[in-house]
Amino acid sequence: MSSLRTILISALCVSTFAAMADAGAAEARRGIFGALADGTRIDAVDLGSRAGIRARIITLGARIQSIYAPDRAGKPGDIVLGFDSPQQYFDDGNYFGATVGRFANRIGKGRFTLNGHTYQLVINDHGNSLHGGTPGFDKRVWKIDSIHSGPSASVVMSYISPAGEEGYPGTLHVTATYTLKDNGELRIDYQATTDKPTIVNLSGHSYFNLASGPGDFSTMHDLLQINASHYTPVDDTLIPTGVIAPVAGTPMDFRRPTAIGLRIRDGNDQQIRYCHGYDMNFVLDGRPGTLRLAARVEDPRSGRVLQVYTTAPGVQFYSGNFLTGLFVGKHGILYRQGDAVVLEPQDFPDAPNHPNFPSAALNPGATYHNVIVYRFSVSK
Ligand code: GLA
Repeated sequence: MSSLRTILISALCVSTFAAMADAGAAEARRGIFGALADGTRIDAVDLGSRAGIRARIITLGARIQSIYAPDRAGKPGDIVLGFDSPQQYFDDGNYFGATVGRFANRIGKGRFTLNGHTYQLVINDHGNSLHGGTPGFDKRVWKIDSIHSGPSASVVMSYISPAGEEGYPGTLHVTATYTLKDNGELRIDYQATTDKPTIVNLSGHSYFNLASGPGDFSTMHDLLQINASHYTPVDDTLIPTGVIAPVAGTPMDFRRPTAIGLRIRDGNDQQIRYCHGYDMNFVLDGRPGTLRLAARVEDPRSGRVLQVYTTAPGVQFYSGNFLTGLFVGKHGILYRQGDAVVLEPQDFPDAPNHPNFPSAALNPGATYHNVIVYRFSVSK
């Protein structure tokens, strides 16, 4: 039944978006994605723009379930990894397309001290806390607050995280707003407020594969550029040591477009060994709080180009190292190591335990805000 519903929503949206192309606007449409095994309904909002970009956002984890973008020849393809049904997302531990929080990435030993109080979080990753604990925001069912069509199509989803959830202090009101502009730019605004001092770090965890599938699906030939002169080296459990190190002379130097596969097997590099490839936080050049280009990915085969902008101080580049060919995702594709480029704009991992990192604290009266913009284009 749920897959029939999914097909029905898709059919509805295809015809709507065809009509919309004439109208010259962007449209948001709400439907049902399916249901979890316990019967919980998961809704979907489809956003479509005149530029031919379509994105589906689902309420399970306020997550991106699909993005269709044209290749060099104008042929649309789904460029993010994921699943066809809610329960598959619920059972999976890869955070495909999800909003991750309360704290994206890791907190060492799941412990931090704020204003003299020490808090213990849920441990779920080699003695550390990863992506907000289990369950994190990626497994919560978010509420749809509003949807809008017009020059831009948007959806606002919200989640209220009760005080003490996963060990975090303060009741956190969170919104994730997805906006698709007429020109095909997809923007995410993460915002949060609290009633007690707390920490927060929200990010988007989309796995991009610009080749789309099936065929040659590896991202190793993709040209990646990251606007970062420094990164934060980690220990063998992927917790930052606290050092802010230059990328120059290391496999982490992506200041010029470089094939991802070129240095990913550099066994002489301790960081590459610890991360099983790339899984590091890059310190973005430019001023945190200002929207600036973080990274650019180009797939030479399809010509698709993704540019990621953010206001966040850092970006995690993760090369899909834990995709081990154990399961099949959308479009019948078996996901293997290196099949995706994950770029997560964020505060630095373990920031609450490193005074030299930008603070991830949030106080009552203030609003946390992280902006992520995905721009899609093609190279000639
Ligand atoms: C982040 C982490 C990785 C991994 C993925 C999810 O990118 O840094 O180590 O946990 O999320 O699988």
